[in-house]
Amino acid sequence: MDNLVKIHDLTFRPLIDAKSIDEAVTRVAEKINAQYSDSTQIPLILGVLNGSFMFLSDLARKLTFRCEVSFVKLASYEGCSSTGTIRELIGLNGSIEGRDIIIVEDIVDSGRSITHTCETLRRHNVGSIRVCTLLFKPAAYKGVEVIDYPAIEVGNEFLIGYGLDYDQHGRELADIFVVCDE
Ligand code: IMP
Ligand code: MG
Repeated sequence: MDNLVKIHDLTFRPLIDAKSIDEAVTRVAEKINAQYSDSTQIPLILGVLNGSFMFLSDLARKLTFRCEVSFVKLASYEGCSSTGTIRELIGLNGSIEGRDIIIVEDIVDSGRSITHTCETLRRHNVGSIRVCTLLFKPAAYKGVEVIDYPAIEVGNEFLIGYGLDYDQHGRELADIFVVCDE
């Protein structure tokens, strides 16, 4: 069949095309613009790498207020302790104390990553935090952070494309694909 993407052992089929993604990005940008257009401070748009790179570059072009753009990365590695995976937020440089921050994520699933990112930022005494994500899986979400700007809500399927990867593959795809059953 056409339009199927095979990566390793998995096959993916198209789910959300580039035009629908663009419309969703426009809608979420309009919401952010409405909330920040009268901002006296210059907000910091903080993308979480790697997954957010494509979404953030399209989103930033649609923002109509002055802002700064920067990126952080959640490095995860298996610890030797029983606490399992350790996550560390790397790439924060310069003081972010007092700043109004808009976190930009590719996807919020269980919420573990976004919880960790928000908690780390709060320890730096930021002024405010809002969360923007391209994709949101409400049925999987167990976090307490408010997801202020979800662009697209999806089910509990595994997705790739438009920044999202399977084993580092598929990020370059302009559309979003979902894993096929079987
Ligand atoms: P969470 O911590 O469970 O919310 O998961 C967030 C991270 O898991 C994302 O930033 C992605 O890196 C990865 N992830 C979760 N769901 C998917 C998916 O459907 N496709 C690709 N990566 C995903
Ligand atoms: Mg991510």
